[in-house]
Amino acid sequence: MSLTVLEHVSLADWVSLKTGGPAHYFIEVTTIEALQEAVAFSNEKQLPFYVLGGGTNMLVSDAGYEGVIIKMNISGRAYNKVNDTSVALVVGAGESFDAVIEEVTSQSLWGLENLSHIPGTVGATPVQNVGAYGVEVSDIISHVTVYDVASKKIVELTKDECLFSYRHSLFKENKNYIIISVTFILSLVPTPKLSYADLQSLTKEEQTPQRIREAVITIRSAKFPDWNVVGTAGSFFKNPIISPAQAKELIAKYPDIPTYMSEGGLVKVSLGYILDKICGLKGFTIGCVRLYEKQALVLVATKPSNTNDIKNFKKIISEKVFEKTFIQIEQEVTEI
Ligand code: EPU
Repeated sequence: MSLTVLEHVSLADWVSLKTGGPAHYFIEVTTIEALQEAVAFSNEKQLPFYVLGGGTNMLVSDAGYEGVIIKMNISGRAYNKVNDTSVALVVGAGESFDAVIEEVTSQSLWGLENLSHIPGTVGATPVQNVGAYGVEVSDIISHVTVYDVASKKIVELTKDECLFSYRHSLFKENKNYIIISVTFILSLVPTPKLSYADLQSLTKEEQTPQRIREAVITIRSAKFPDWNVVGTAGSFFKNPIISPAQAKELIAKYPDIPTYMSEGGLVKVSLGYILDKICGLKGFTIGCVRLYEKQALVLVATKPSNTNDIKNFKKIISEKVFEKTFIQIEQEVTEI
């Protein structure tokens, strides 16, 4: 098989923030064999590679990427009945996550409905353990199959081996693993997750995967800008996870701040609230970069902004948050 290797491809056209320079090499792969060849190509050129999914959570340097961008397009969906109550669905990493959710909810399969309208590819979802409306993708994953660049073998990892936590997994640490498929366990019996306030108004009859999907889509469209029109990556920062002592001080000062129990007794606090209610930064704008007026955690960049503008903006936001709260915030988007 011979690969089609493109050169000097503008990455701004491939990422939802719509900024950034060119990739030296750009290869689309639709099979595992092509993926292996693309990795071999980057070794021959002695250049790094980066696997690109939907580009919906990425910040690309204005200088571009001096390496090989491997655009993951491996497709495939296979359903296997596990028992009377559940079905395993194996999905190729390059499939659109939301297209899969649309299909499974239309078949009344439970599990993924709360994650409706999250943009991007299936293979990207385990990397940062995407989550929304009370569900994280790790809740529904049973296995992740990877190509291990080091051993040149296909390896099937169990959910436990993926070391999932809030917006984190093994795949953020071990860059040798390229995700080629994800196995979800979907339920044939109702498992509604309605902890999120906006979903609690659904009546018993409305509690179907399809109706919950519709409700989530309605909530999201009120909070997110149109990805086709503006540059955005959804939440740009992570919700900070802080010590109980620091949380106590913050709550004493700002009693309404939403807080959530997190791993290891730590406390997750709402950065959207901090940006909006504590720092007054909702809608804050510098040039063509701003915090979205309907959800302060969402950064929006319009033309002609570039990545440097976004990086400067990010620095100013981080400083303002630190001044008010002494919290050092972290970005959620991946930077190359
Ligand atoms: N809030 C404000 N002002 C704002 C935004 C938020 O006061 O401008 C407060 C509200 O009190 C609200 C709370 O913050 O109740 C939490 O806001 P929201 O429910 O919108 O969720 P979030 O914590 O800001 C997280 C995820 C989103 C996910 C939503 C819904 C992260 C970094 N973000 O946002 O995920 O859709 O929950 O579950 O964890 C993403 O990761 O790209 C993403 C969009």
